Amino acid sequence: MKTKNYILKEIESSDIKNIHKGLSDPEITKYYDVHYPTLEETKEQMKWYKSLKDEGTGIWWGIFGIEDNVFRGACGFNGLDKKHRKAEIGLWLLKEYWGNGILKEMMPKLFEIGFSDLGLNRIEGYVVTENLKCKSALEKINFKYEGTMRECEIIDGKPISVDIYAILKTDLN
Ligand SMILES: CC(C)(COP(=O)(O)OP(=O)(O)OC[C@H]1O[C@@H](n2cnc3c(N)ncnc32)[C@H](O)[C@@H]1OP(=O)(O)O)[C@@H](O)C(=O)NCCC(=O)NCCS
Repeated sequence: MKTKNYILKEIESSDIKNIHKGLSDPEITKYYDVHYPTLEETKEQMKWYKSLKDEGTGIWWGIFGIEDNVFRGACGFNGLDKKHRKAEIGLWLLKEYWGNGILKEMMPKLFEIGFSDLGLNRIEGYVVTENLKCKSALEKINFKYEGTMRECEIIDGKPISVDIYAILKTDLN
């Protein structure tokens, strides 16, 4: 699966160093409920990617440059609900690749995979309310803001509010 500049490769255990590089960076995990300082701890995340596949509840890919085959970040679907044809979408990039339009290039491909290959009707994005960059990105690519779950999580003792964004297959018509 390719876009103009990138190729998606399903995440495997051999990607652990790439995943660690991303999810050990506090600026990347700032609005996430996961953070893996060590390679050993990153094994937890690799188990999660495998469980998605084994349980049929999602799939995540590494994003690599078509020309240089260098890892840029990861994206995918989880919480796949086949009965209600919906799933949660996610994407993160290594800091050195922020601001280059990668999210904008990847999302249409993820919509195509989600609405066609996975047969979804609805794709959801759960975004911590303070993550303004992500929210402005989602609004620019047709995601609709549907509401805020106020203080629905406690992270490091602090109440966190989460916004719900969603895009429907019909929104792309
Ligand atoms: C959020 C993230 C994926 C953005 O990816 P990106 O490839 O840098 O985004 P793009 O270059 O495609 O920009 C898309 C839009 O995002 C927003 N955006 C990107 N960088 C921004 C910045 N530094 N400040 C404010 N808005 C920004 C803008 O709306 C931008 O649209 P524009 O270029 O028309 O202004 C990246 O910063 C990241 O990995 N963050 C950490 C993980 C995370 O928060 N993931 C949630 C994903 S929504």
